[in-house]
Order: sequence, then structure tokens, then C-alpha cells
Amino acid sequence: MPMTSSADLTVDGGRTAGVSDPLTVTVAGDKSVSHRALLAALLPGAPELLTVRRANLGGAVRALLPAMRALGVAVDVSGDTLVVRRGAAPVPQPVRPHSGVVAWPEDAPYLQTEGSSAAARLLLGILAGTGLRAVVDGDEVLRHRPMDWLVDPLRVLGADIEYLGEPGRLPVLVAGSVHRPGRVDLAVGSAQARSGVLLAAVAAGLPVALRHPVRSRDHTERMLAAFGARLTESDGEVAHQGGDCVVPPVVDVPTDPSLAAYPVAAHLLWGHGGELRVPDVCLNPTRLGFFDVLRTAGADISYEGRGTTTGGEPVGTLVARGGLGRVRRVRVDQPAVLHALIDEVPLLAAVAATLPGESWIGCAEELRFKETDRIATTAGMLDAFGADVAAVDDGLLIRGGAPLRTGEVPAFEDHRIAMAAATLAVSLPGRTTVSGGACHRTSFPDFADVQRAVGARICEDTTS
Ligand code: S3P
Repeated sequence: MPMTSSADLTVDGGRTAGVSDPLTVTVAGDKSVSHRALLAALLPGAPELLTVRRANLGGAVRALLPAMRALGVAVDVSGDTLVVRRGAAPVPQPVRPHSGVVAWPEDAPYLQTEGSSAAARLLLGILAGTGLRAVVDGDEVLRHRPMDWLVDPLRVLGADIEYLGEPGRLPVLVAGSVHRPGRVDLAVGSAQARSGVLLAAVAAGLPVALRHPVRSRDHTERMLAAFGARLTESDGEVAHQGGDCVVPPVVDVPTDPSLAAYPVAAHLLWGHGGELRVPDVCLNPTRLGFFDVLRTAGADISYEGRGTTTGGEPVGTLVARGGLGRVRRVRVDQPAVLHALIDEVPLLAAVAATLPGESWIGCAEELRFKETDRIATTAGMLDAFGADVAAVDDGLLIRGGAPLRTGEVPAFEDHRIAMAAATLAVSLPGRTTVSGGACHRTSFPDFADVQRAVGARICEDTTS
């Protein structure tokens, strides 16, 4: 478990008197799409100058920028626009020491992706496809997360990848590209693992069929297909037929549905009866599980589609009305549904703690391998609120009706836990301190501003 080092978040329950419905709130761009759009600049079909608009600029996406620069790709940040230029002079990164690392060739650039597993895994895929030789590393937390989910299938396709420290973990040296066409099986539902293999196949122009156990978020498939890659999909399999793709000069990032979930949850928890609208949200069904599960359980949530981005993502307005009065419990018992809300499990569990019935969130074993063991940390956070929650191997059982209390609640230095805790706290009378809660900056730097815009009373302790 990482040491707590972020500032605290202080939340006073209830909704600010001055805020009234209907409300429209703007939320930042999608983290997953931002990672992919940025990395598209490394594909052989990328333009010299790529502009990514409305990028998510949380810590996880920023973690990729020094690595790109070390590969000779200049990235200028202006507001939420990224201007990405190939062919710049490489800017080397300082190497982070690691005990037990074997030596690697000095001419291989060192790419430090900090705590972002998406940055590391997607980058690994692109390197294995383009044949760019480099070392990929992460911070102490990321060095403990599994990389073999992706490295094993890449090796089957002929990639030369060497673990420099512990087997299956970062740092790794990517020394040679995929070159053997074939069929590979993924052991896990992780979209990052599937995306890494697909990016490698497309970057190398290699025909590859990839079998996967569950259809998790498909941003890579949509983006590559929108760029002209020849992808076909059938039940449990996605295949690249070989050939090139062409990256357009501008890629627009839609609003992140995982971030939109926090103001929507706050609105529903207060239940003042009015309408909350979030425009330009990514309405990709593989991301809407949180809203779909609540809808099925009786919440009034709807989607108003508007069009498709250059990156192939459907966008539109998310509308939430009323509260949770009709919702008794929530249930997640299918892998595809779990993956469609994989980052919202702490929030869904927090909402479930306020419902009268018994809720179950299952098929969640991969959550044990997130920034924290998110089954354990979600349970730990809810336990601090006094909720009746049981963590089992693959999920969480939440028995509603337990009286919830405010006070000090841990965030475990995990952004999703911090934001779920602060959102639950807005619905409870009294003051909650989410310790280390400012780690929300990993994915949602303006979380507190957005929650304040819908009526929350949240402030960040700037003294620590
Ligand atoms: C992501 C995939 C998911 C998600 C993460 C981002 C991605 O992780 O939890 O926040 O960008 O592909 P897994 O691939 O581990 O499921």
C-alpha cells in the first residue's frame, strides 16, 4: 500500500443553497481516449503534427508526456489541447533506481510512466509493434502490477521483451518487434492488455487474431477502425487483417463518463428532483455500466446521442433526473457489465451503502490488481463510514440500511476511492475528512470544482 502523501479533502454534507436545477455541468476529457490519442502519434500512419483536443490532463495522462519526449516526440500543452510533433530531439528521462535490475543497452531510451498502468501497457504495445527499442518502467506501485497479461501474447507474436527485474513486472526492455502472424489468447478482461496487443499488431501491419474472455472498453478498436485499420470482430475475438492505418491531424476527446459519474451520483444522492445534464459525454456502451446498472434499478438516467468523434467514439448528453427513491439495490453479476463500470466500483458501492436493500458487485477479481487492491480498499473506505460491507474474492456485498457516519475516511492514495468517499460524504449530515483525498488529481484534477458546481461543499486542504 502506498504511503499517504496527498492533501486531504474536507466535505460538509448537504447541497449549497444557491444551486438550483436544471443544471448543466462540464466535465474533463476521457482518460483512456486521451492516452490512445496521444500514443497514436507513434503509429507509422501518424501525421507529423497531431492535435489532441479536450485531453484529460490528470496525472495519469501527464505521466506519458516525458516518455513521448524521450522517444523524440515533442508535446506542447496549451489548456486542454496537446500539440504533438514527431521528429524532435529526444529528451532523456532520469533513470529511477531499482534494486536487482539487470543492465540494459545504453542506447535504449528509458521511459518512466510513473503510476499509470495504461501509459505503460499501451506504450509497451506500440514499442513492440514499431520495433522502437526502449526500457519501460513505472513507480514503486506500478512495478508491482502485472505486465505478463500483455507481454506473454506479445512474445507469442515474436516480440523480444525482457524483464529487467522481477519476472512479469516492470521494468522491461522491449528489444524486438512482433513479426509472427497468428492467434493469441488473453487470460484477462483488461482492456489495456487487449489494446497493447492490438496496437502492436496495427503498428507492425501484422495479421493477428486475439481471443478475449470479456469485451471490456473498446476505445482502441474504435479508434483504429476510424483510422482505417482493417479490424473484424466476432464473438470473443477481434482480428487485425494486416495493412496500414492513417491517423488524422486532429483527434477530439469526449467527456469522461467515469468522471461524469461523480456529479451524477451526488445529484442522485441528494435527490432534489431536478435535472442534471452533462454534455459531450463518451456514450460508448462499454463505459456506461454505472449509469446502466442504476437505470435498471430504477434511476431516471437517459442518453441523448449527438454524433461520433474523429476517434470513432459516440458522444452525447447524459441526463439524470430526480433521486434514488425507486432504487432498492444494485446488482452486477456479469463480467461485461463489471468491465463497463470497472473504475466506478468504489462509487457504485458507496451509492449501494445508502440503499435499503442488499447489493452485490461481482466478477471483479481484476480489481485486486488496480492502483490498490480495490476490493479491499473500497471495503475499507465504506467501513470507515459505518457501512455493512463484506469483501469476498471477486466482489463486494453491501447490506443497506446501516446508519452511515461522517468523520475521517481513508483514500488509500487511490483516486477512485478518494472521489467515491467524497461523493458519498456530500449526502451525509456533518463533516467528512477524506485523508489523502487530493490524489483525485490522477484522473480528475478539477473534481472539487465540478462537485461544487453541482452544489457540493468540498475543499482541498492546501496546508499539507
Ligand atoms: C483502461 C482500462 C481499465 C481501466 C483503466 C483504464 C484503459 O483497466 O480500469 O482506468 O485505458 O484501457 P484494465 O485494462 O486493467 O481493465
